[in-house]
Amino acid sequence: MYYKNQLYALCEGGPPIAINLTTLETQSKYTFNQQLKSAFSSHPKQDPETKEIFNLGISFGINCELYLMKINSTDNSLFTKPIPFPEDLLAFIHDFAITEKYMIIPVSPYYVSQWDLIKSVMGFNTVGNSFKWYNNSNSHFIIVEKDTLDIKSVIEVPPFSAYHVCNAYDNIDGSVSVFIARHKGPREALENTFRNILHSEFTQNMQCEMVKYDLDINSNTCTTSKVVASDAKGMEFAVINDVFLGRNFRYIYSPAVSAPGYFNHYQKIDLLTEKSIFYDLPAGCYGNEAFFVPKKHKAETNKDVASPCNEDVGYLLTCIYNSNSHCSEMLILDATDLSYVGSAKLPHHVPYSFHTLFVENTT
Ligand SMILES: [Fe+2]
Repeated sequence: MYYKNQLYALCEGGPPIAINLTTLETQSKYTFNQQLKSAFSSHPKQDPETKEIFNLGISFGINCELYLMKINSTDNSLFTKPIPFPEDLLAFIHDFAITEKYMIIPVSPYYVSQWDLIKSVMGFNTVGNSFKWYNNSNSHFIIVEKDTLDIKSVIEVPPFSAYHVCNAYDNIDGSVSVFIARHKGPREALENTFRNILHSEFTQNMQCEMVKYDLDINSNTCTTSKVVASDAKGMEFAVINDVFLGRNFRYIYSPAVSAPGYFNHYQKIDLLTEKSIFYDLPAGCYGNEAFFVPKKHKAETNKDVASPCNEDVGYLLTCIYNSNSHCSEMLILDATDLSYVGSAKLPHHVPYSFHTLFVENTT
């Protein structure tokens, strides 16, 4: 996260950690003037219009709580509110979406029982290794008012597993649509792979498909759910032009793979035409998350100005791993047609599957 001219490293289990942008040195924890009452999770969302930042985080202990957060854009104050977990069990919640009105928090039935939580607090196991998939439970969408952080609706749907939410928006009829990278296979097999990642294989069951859920907040029901763009390849780390965060949007970008293994393509999904286009990485090269950076034009003031109306006019910046040289490379693609723009070789490799962030040099 880049906030108030400071880079922060984020994780599920603690506060933001300030990082020196030049030296990458770890500096200090940031607690929003001691207002932070929980962890500050890794996927905060900034509303493109109000500039408010929303996030969630868990306060760990015998009785864990899920805190919602809103950072005021003018005075930078932090407003927090705890809400109950579905099923009253500690759930693994990694990401959420915002619309103009709501925070939308998907919760999979991947929980820690109270007994396992006590054992992990006592040091007999890690919290991460205490999660289990609850076969007889459903998934939930918690819909929260952005203004008050009060729960508006909780909608139960058939169980699904996901880490990342792509985007969401309000519909004219008051319903909301949410786009989620849903795992094709069971969660626990994927988690076991992460536990032994150097000696595991990523099967197609561990890839995601992009699914759109339409949620009726008044009746607390999911009216439809469907996989978008049937020609899309297996994916994770789906991103959009953030100008359209929480708004009706058209394009999704992600690393992609059509066979077991690591991401060897990038894809652009057009939600209007339901068609996808692809960029194929060279043999032995594997993709990570990309970041959409809007293309700028020279305005009359001779100042660079982004073109927010043209959703797919920009660049995808990403870091790929080249297994031939055991080094990473920065790769830039044109976001309109996924054509190659340029690349820069790094003298070393960057650990695979980091999220990405673009920080503009304004000096
Ligand atoms: Fe993530």
